[in-house]
Amino acid sequence: MSSQSRIMSKKSIEEFLFQVREKNKRLTITGVLLLIQGKFVQYIEGPAEEIDKLYESISNDSRHTDMILLDSGDVENRQFNDWSMAYKEVSDKRIKEIIGDENLNLEDVFLNGKDVKNHPVLTVLYDFVKTLSS
Ligand SMILES: Cc1cc2nc3c(=O)[nH]c(=O)nc-3n(C[C@H](O)[C@H](O)[C@H](O)COP(=O)(O)O)c2cc1C
Repeated sequence: MSSQSRIMSKKSIEEFLFQVREKNKRLTITGVLLLIQGKFVQYIEGPAEEIDKLYESISNDSRHTDMILLDSGDVENRQFNDWSMAYKEVSDKRIKEIIGDENLNLEDVFLNGKDVKNHPVLTVLYDFVKTLSS
């Protein structure tokens, strides 16, 4: 998860996604990227060595700041076989529906990062994964 450095236009998001997807195809990396209230939430999967190198590149990218690793590990099967990088902008309304609290303060969702493995934003990510795979 990270914070966007500056708001990107629709066109620059499209160009960015095109480049990301081309490189991911080359490296057989798949995954999903969400944009929620100016925060990127991303899941990437692929050969461990390539993932480590890409993680390093992404962490040095000036288009975002304050990157934190929410979770990592080995997976038996890919979750995003068909997606070189699925992308979705998630509305505040949808986050509140998923997390189940109408009065939810979204600041809390993003700042509640002490227990990163149970970070509420992971619930949002898993929910989106379900919609893609069902
Ligand atoms: C939030 C975020 C997610 C990114 N995800 C990817 C990705 O999945 N794959 C990718 O190739 N680049 C991704 N990038 C871009 C990389 O940081 C980097 O610009 C790109 O890999 C090109 O690096 P290179 O010129 O060293 O090959 C991402 C950047 C940001 C800000």
